[in-house]
Amino acid sequence: MRDAAPVSTPPRVLPPNDPRQYDDLAGEWWRPGGAFAMLHWLARARAALVPPASEPDDLLVDLGCGAGLLAPHLAGKGYRHVGVDLTRSALDQAAEHGVTVVQGDATAVPLPDGCAAVVSAGELLEHVPDWRRAVAEACRLLRPGGLLVLDTLNDTLLARLVAVELGERLPTVPRGIHDPRLFVDARALVAECARHGVALRLRGIRPELGGTLTWLLRRLSGADRPVRTEPRIVPTWSTAVLYQGRGHRSG
Ligand SMILES: C[S@@+](CC[C@H](N)C(=O)[O-])C[C@H]1O[C@@H](n2cnc3c(N)ncnc32)[C@H](O)[C@@H]1O
Repeated sequence: MRDAAPVSTPPRVLPPNDPRQYDDLAGEWWRPGGAFAMLHWLARARAALVPPASEPDDLLVDLGCGAGLLAPHLAGKGYRHVGVDLTRSALDQAAEHGVTVVQGDATAVPLPDGCAAVVSAGELLEHVPDWRRAVAEACRLLRPGGLLVLDTLNDTLLARLVAVELGERLPTVPRGIHDPRLFVDARALVAECARHGVALRLRGIRPELGGTLTWLLRRLSGADRPVRTEPRIVPTWSTAVLYQGRGHRSG
C-alpha cells in the first residue's frame, strides 16, 4: 500500500467576530508587520492619553487587553497594568510583557468597584455583543476622578466601508475580525458613559496617510522585514469611522 500524501489543514473559517479567531492569529500579535500591526499604532495613541500615575502602584485595568500591546507604551508611567481578556492565548503573551492577567469577560469583570485609576478599552467595544454592559463595567471599576480611555469604530456606513470592506482587504486588519452590526454609535456611547458618571469627550482619529501608504507599499510588495517607522495615529475632524474617547468619572 502506498503512503498517504500528507494532508495540510486549511485554515478554519469562523463567523465574523468569533473570539476563536484570536487563537488562530496568536502568532500575529507581536510579529513585526503582522496582521495586528494597526493595533500597535492605536495602542501608542491610546497610551498618550494616559498621564503618569498619581500614586505608586495605581491600577490601570486594560479591558480586552489582547496580548498586552499597550504595555510598552505605559512603561515608566508608574501603573500596575492589569489586563482582562477572554482569550487565553493572548493573555499568556500579555503576561510575558509584564501584564497581570485575568481571564474574564469585559461585561462581568471579577475586580472590585472603584479599584482603578485608569480603565482602558482599546478596540474592544466593537467586538462585544452588549457593549453597554462593558461600558457599565468600565465605569464601575473606576475610582472617583478616575480616567476612562477608549477607541472604537462608529456605527456608520462609512465605518463599514473603510474598516471592513476596505480595511479587511489590506494587511493591517485580519479578515472577518469585525462584525459591523456591533459597531458603536458615538452619541449613544457618550450618553451611556454619562449615565454611569463619566463625561466622555470624543475625537476622530486615523492613521496618517503618508506613513501608512509607505507601510502598505512595503508590505504589499512582499517585503516582510519590519518597517522601521510605524505610521502615527492622528486626530481627524470626523468621528464617523474610528474615534477615541477620554473622560473622568465624577468624584
Ligand atoms: C481587536 S482586539 C484588541 C486588543 C487590545 N485591546 C489591543 O488594542 O491591542 C480585541 C480583544 O478583545 C477581546 N475580547 C473580545 N470580546 C471580549 C469580551 N467580551 N471580554 C473580554 N475580552 C474580549 C479579544 O479576545 C481580543 O483580545
